[in-house]
Amino acid sequence: MSDSGNSLSWRSLLDEIRSQCREDVIADDMIKLLNSYTSNEENWRDYAVFDPHKYTRNLVDTGNDRYNLILICWGEGQGSCIHDHSGSQCVMKIMSGKLRETLFQMPKREGQSEMTVKEYRDYAKDEVAHINDDIGLHRVENPSHADTAVSLHLYFPPIKVCRSFNQQTGESRQCQPTFYSQFGQQKSQ
Ligand code: SIN
Repeated sequence: MSDSGNSLSWRSLLDEIRSQCREDVIADDMIKLLNSYTSNEENWRDYAVFDPHKYTRNLVDTGNDRYNLILICWGEGQGSCIHDHSGSQCVMKIMSGKLRETLFQMPKREGQSEMTVKEYRDYAKDEVAHINDDIGLHRVENPSHADTAVSLHLYFPPIKVCRSFNQQTGESRQCQPTFYSQFGQQKSQ
């Protein structure tokens, strides 16, 4: 069942997520699971749809509404806005390239002052990261201006709405994440 060495195959990874990612699942188990797969571009290439102007969210599995599995494609220098996770867990695995995560403190009073950076974290291929609202707000970006990056995100439960934050003022607004493609098919824009 393995694509490379002792690592889980892509198919087994998807099957294991489906069987293990239930209501009572804990993030540590999903971190372990994503760590047991070694990224091989041949496995996920069909889901990787890029856009020259913004990062793309490509749905791999709806997870029967228990989770969403999403492949995110980051062009050179592209990044997300500062956002929360609305009570969901997010476990992210780097499939190719490198990503930088910036963690921010929750603003004490919205709209009053610039947001404070807590920490920077850099990730390389096959590393796995975890975020939730207790850990903080964050933004993810591809720091490279020469190479693209791809990451696999497991959100449980799925995020229907979240809040994005203005770094200069700390003001937030509700946003509704959308998918650029679903199951390898680009949605009509
Ligand atoms: C997203 O799911 O759109 C954002 C990915 C991230 O920055 O964590």
